[in-house]
Amino acid sequence: MIRELSGHEIDALHYELLVKDIVAAAEKLPPFPDIAWKIMSLLTAMAPIKEVEELISYDQVITAKILQLANSVYYGQQSEVRSLKEAILLLGNNRLIQVVIAACATLYYGSGSSRDERELWEHSVTTALTSQIVACRIHYEGVLTLYTAALLHDIGKTILNFYSKIYLQSSLREIRGDSEGIRAERRALGIDHQELGGIIARNWKFPPDIAAAIEHHHNPEKAGRYEEFTCLVHLVDLLALSFPKKNDKQPNKGIDLESDPVFEKFGITREMTDEFQNELETGMAGVLRVLGAV
Ligand SMILES: [Fe+2]
Ligand SMILES: [Fe+2]
Repeated sequence: MIRELSGHEIDALHYELLVKDIVAAAEKLPPFPDIAWKIMSLLTAMAPIKEVEELISYDQVITAKILQLANSVYYGQQSEVRSLKEAILLLGNNRLIQVVIAACATLYYGSGSSRDERELWEHSVTTALTSQIVACRIHYEGVLTLYTAALLHDIGKTILNFYSKIYLQSSLREIRGDSEGIRAERRALGIDHQELGGIIARNWKFPPDIAAAIEHHHNPEKAGRYEEFTCLVHLVDLLALSFPKKNDKQPNKGIDLESDPVFEKFGITREMTDEFQNELETGMAGVLRVLGAV
């Protein structure tokens, strides 16, 4: 005799299939391009600039971004930078790697044709550049690791946004980026963007500290031995969320920075957060504009 399923059982089945589908979509993402790590090892090995130039020149998107950034107001050049070699020398190793990682990451954030895609990418770049400002202030040494984790911390949203639009007829933009928001994602779709991000990062064979930070950036206390690093990613995420967006003169009122113990942990005061915002909007405006364009 066939028993009819209860409403609760149908819901459970629906969640199970939905989560399987979402995880499968995450696992199908193409691998993260390894050009960034190749360039990093060339620079670490002090390889001749010609080798770095040759490697980059195979990738037109990255080459274009590097030239665009070298020619942005940020570098205040008197004459136009036309050659890749000149641009590489001008940017320096750290900024060069940052541009390459950002150009690789844009592959996963869509074409920027929707508001969700644009906002998610802008938030990711803002978080990454904020991480550089904070790292400099607190003398944190793992600058590039922090930059990569900060840039990709919300990578799970690229997949979850798609399902959210289909199943909830709304975007994750309306779901808050805190623990309450995480619970809301799990209730609605059976999985949250942190867990999904962790799956993606491990599939990409990212270093364990970056994968842990992506997987726990809203609950750093769950990151085990990577808690300290994850706290830092959590902090720069909150800072980036608190900065006013373009055409929005009001700071994000929903983010109460002082109530989060992570700020005290790293000795970040309210005055310092204002300075970080100022540095991002003035000192880094050119980089933000170039990297923020999808
Ligand atoms: Fe997040
Ligand atoms: Fe975020």
